[in-house]
Amino acid sequence: MTRGPTTPIGAYPQTRMRRNRRYDWSRRMVRENQLSPDDFIWPLFVRDGTGTAEDIPTMPGVVRRTVDLLADAVGEAKGLGIPSVAIFPAIDPDLKTPMAEEAWNPDNLVCQAIRTIKDAHPEVGIVCDVALDPFNSDGHDGIVRDGHVANDETIEALCRQALVQVEAGCDIIAPSDMMDGRVGAIREALDTSGCEQAQIMSYAAKFSSAFYGPFRDAIDSSGFLAGETKDTYQMDPANTDEALREVALDIAEGADMVMVKPGLPYLDIIWRVKERFGVPTFAYNVSGEYAMLRFAAEADAIDFTKAMMETLVSFKRAGCNGVLTYFAVDAARLLGDQ
Ligand code: PBG
Repeated sequence: MTRGPTTPIGAYPQTRMRRNRRYDWSRRMVRENQLSPDDFIWPLFVRDGTGTAEDIPTMPGVVRRTVDLLADAVGEAKGLGIPSVAIFPAIDPDLKTPMAEEAWNPDNLVCQAIRTIKDAHPEVGIVCDVALDPFNSDGHDGIVRDGHVANDETIEALCRQALVQVEAGCDIIAPSDMMDGRVGAIREALDTSGCEQAQIMSYAAKFSSAFYGPFRDAIDSSGFLAGETKDTYQMDPANTDEALREVALDIAEGADMVMVKPGLPYLDIIWRVKERFGVPTFAYNVSGEYAMLRFAAEADAIDFTKAMMETLVSFKRAGCNGVLTYFAVDAARLLGDQ
């Protein structure tokens, strides 16, 4: 081929992109993103009773555990190098009320779980959701007044919930309710109660998503949303600029880390958040994303392990510091074996 003044430098055949891809060692040399167990936060579902790990039919491979089984599960995660776990309670329906008072009972299921884990594994970080939906007979993340989720009244309840969780030993408070002003209010409530070391990971850009379906089965909060849908507080999946405003507000109110949720359908949001703010940024690879891979693999439509690792590295590529994922233990085990 003769080179003319308009021939781009590096064009074929001088540049052959496949050279670097030829051998495994070479592919490893040029790999831009690496997964590590440090990237994972493992969500755990907790239920009352003893000695029971109950299957969740819409999340094959995930269970609801009684508190006495938590220490072993968290010990396994710790052994694999996973730094932290997130606790989600399935509350006895008899304890659910319109005001969700159980959320700030210092002996509730979440607080029991926190104490049990901290006793057994003090060096593992504990993340707890702050939102009323597991405790609310109306199924909403906030308190319903006249058919509408009331913002400011809900915030008072969220502050109480955050405080009992931190007092029980929770390290990272993760408000997932999407009320306006809740991060600032929770920060102040923690700071004025001597809990200024508690971190806040805000679910800053949380979209109103169909991908939460299996989670709502897992904590038994599906089916009875009173009054309105979650569209009045969770974000419209069509919006991007609005997500940046949400993140900016939560950072201004004192969030130490921010989260985008769901994960896979919102990689563009993660990218823009990380580019714009440069703060610790997390994704929640949610229950529906987990179920998609599991059910596709059960139908022999995909290679489960490869699809899982490809999914997880996409979060790193998009700019995440870490990801909440039900795959955490499977993926960490795989990384350990390599
Ligand atoms: C509730 C909450 C939800 C999830 C985490 N916290 C569901 C919802 O907002 O309805 C979803 C997690 C998942 O789907 O894995 N505040």
